[in-house]
Amino acid sequence: MRKTGEEFRSIWQNPADPTVVQIIDQRRLPHEYVVHDLKTWQDGADAISDMLVRGAPLIGATAAWSLYLAANQRSGKSDCRECVLRAAEALGLTRPTAINLKWALDRCRRVIDAASGDSDLVSLLEVEARSICDEDVEISRRIGEHGLKLIEAISASKPGEPVNILTHCNAGALATINYGTATAPVYFAHAKGIDVHVWVDETRPRNQGSQLTAWELAENGVPHTLIVDNAGGHIMQHGLVDICITGTDRTTRTGDVANKIGTYLKALAAHDNSVPFYVALPSTTIDWTISDGIRGIPIEERDPDEVSRIYGRIGDRLETVNTVATNTKIRNFAFDVTPAKFVTGLITEQGICAASEKGLTELFPNMAAQKS
Ligand code: MRU
Repeated sequence: MRKTGEEFRSIWQNPADPTVVQIIDQRRLPHEYVVHDLKTWQDGADAISDMLVRGAPLIGATAAWSLYLAANQRSGKSDCRECVLRAAEALGLTRPTAINLKWALDRCRRVIDAASGDSDLVSLLEVEARSICDEDVEISRRIGEHGLKLIEAISASKPGEPVNILTHCNAGALATINYGTATAPVYFAHAKGIDVHVWVDETRPRNQGSQLTAWELAENGVPHTLIVDNAGGHIMQHGLVDICITGTDRTTRTGDVANKIGTYLKALAAHDNSVPFYVALPSTTIDWTISDGIRGIPIEERDPDEVSRIYGRIGDRLETVNTVATNTKIRNFAFDVTPAKFVTGLITEQGICAASEKGLTELFPNMAAQKS
């Protein structure tokens, strides 16, 4: 069940007990594949904060399922609706950068408003969480189809050679519900028999590249090579990258993109070496209220321990070790913003567009009209 495709989901209801939602504890990959139960909305909030789940679309989906859990917890008590609304407030504070979190909670709040009683609230939130997941799968599939055309064109231009794709962080099936955003075109190309090879950035400090993307690509049989975060510029200078594709946690209406720390430096290197730099995103990641990403997008700062410590396998044991002097001052910026001028194009479920207000508005005229 690890391979992406029809059977894969990063979050699901326990078939034996639908009041329990299950996730993969992503902190433990690639060493262990552990399914973790979410029984309360607080379990969901902790899973988001502690990064058992991560990736903008999956964070949103986990928040939606958490509200279903909250409704189940309080169903039949006089304060059920108020508790669910308080849970929504708390969930909204778990991680600040990915806009999908707010998007999913707002969508659930509309359902909460429409519910006529506790059992209605539970079943409506269950349907909504499931719809958010099903829609995300379809969105990722369509991103894959559109992005595939870019890879096909590069492949046609260098017959007999692999298409080298560089990606940063994990914008894969583990970050969404299935397929991923940045990885979806890669999976589709690989399935079509196109010779693809992925350069996987390690992605310090949490190593989403080495621990998640590399694992995911290996499970799907996609050729890949792990590199340290600072290697991207070097390999671009030597013609070893045909295209960069990353994900995003929040995209302004003008096409600026916030993504995992280090993405901006890859975009600069790509620009200097004329390597196309594409960002793959579901429309749920667009924040139509912001035009200046650098000033407008909140950048999460996380625990310094993530920088000073490394988790891994020593013989048979899994351990976390400290790698820096205890009195070293650390700041742990989790995301950065790549200005639209360095983004060659945005790969969305509606097609590929310029990273600009015009480009996004043409693809999503209704959303642009409603929200800006
Ligand atoms: O801190 P994370 O692991 O949640 O950050 C994830 C990313 O930066 C992803 O690239 C982004 O969410 C896009 S996921 C399709």
